[in-house]
Amino acid sequence: KEIKIFCPATIANVSCGFDVLGLCLDSIGDEMIVRTTKTPGIKISKITGQDLPLNPEKNVAGVAAIELLKNMEIEGGFEIEIHKKIKPGSGIGSSAASAAGVVFAINELLGRPFSKTELVSFAMQGEALASGAAHADNVAPALFGGFTLVRSYQPLDVVKIHTPSELYATVVHPQIEVKTADSRSVLKQNVPLKKAIIQWGNLAGLISGLYTEDYGLISRSLHDEIVEPLRSVLIPGFDEVKAACIKQGALGSGISGSGPSVFALSKGRQTAGKVAGVMSSIYDNYGVDYDVHISKIN
Ligand code: HSE
Repeated sequence: KEIKIFCPATIANVSCGFDVLGLCLDSIGDEMIVRTTKTPGIKISKITGQDLPLNPEKNVAGVAAIELLKNMEIEGGFEIEIHKKIKPGSGIGSSAASAAGVVFAINELLGRPFSKTELVSFAMQGEALASGAAHADNVAPALFGGFTLVRSYQPLDVVKIHTPSELYATVVHPQIEVKTADSRSVLKQNVPLKKAIIQWGNLAGLISGLYTEDYGLISRSLHDEIVEPLRSVLIPGFDEVKAACIKQGALGSGISGSGPSVFALSKGRQTAGKVAGVMSSIYDNYGVDYDVHISKIN
């Protein structure tokens, strides 16, 4: 048996939800083909688009697949082909797409023995290999679609959040590589209570705004008091891009995951398009190569 799947890119954190909130970008992603084999275990037979290890123990998809197999006794194994379109170190969940994709595909081939939350827990182990920390805010939206909240890590509790009907994401990827492990190392381990109060007010506001389709509330809530000020210095032109997106009518803008991609959320495709235009012209002026994408959030 064989299955061919699309593995979507994702935006983690979404400003106020560090390590807990994420959204799925269904217009950008990798492709993966997974086949059942008589030989037990996991074999990665082919990777195109990026130079990544074929050894399953050193590959995020391999590690996630091995984790799934630890939880079920089966005869035979799986062979994986990965066609990478999402660049590693871009901040739109490249490793998560591979980790989530492979566990989704194997679960389908096995007749769906695992719940989506169980798949998130396996995929997280792949993420841990890539970033040094097992977070689920990219793998959860890649598996559930739309917005997801990781309400708790222990025990793992993932909640799919309603997405308003006219919400679009625009993402620009300036082509410099920021490793998640590095951009996590600049963070402080303690948060002053004053900042925490602002942050959880905004996170609750954002979730409420998503459910009630209150774009004004979404806009007022898209701020990050804690992580963005420390990480934005790693991204060329960040403040300028963010200010320009808001001037074009975006609801808010921030760092996508651990960067360097910058995202903006907008109401309607027209605004999302204008936002893509200013993102492009700023990086044209900087002479930095970039990719820009618009995605409806479903
Ligand atoms: N929440 C994670 C971070 C996502 O910001 O470090 C990156 O993969």
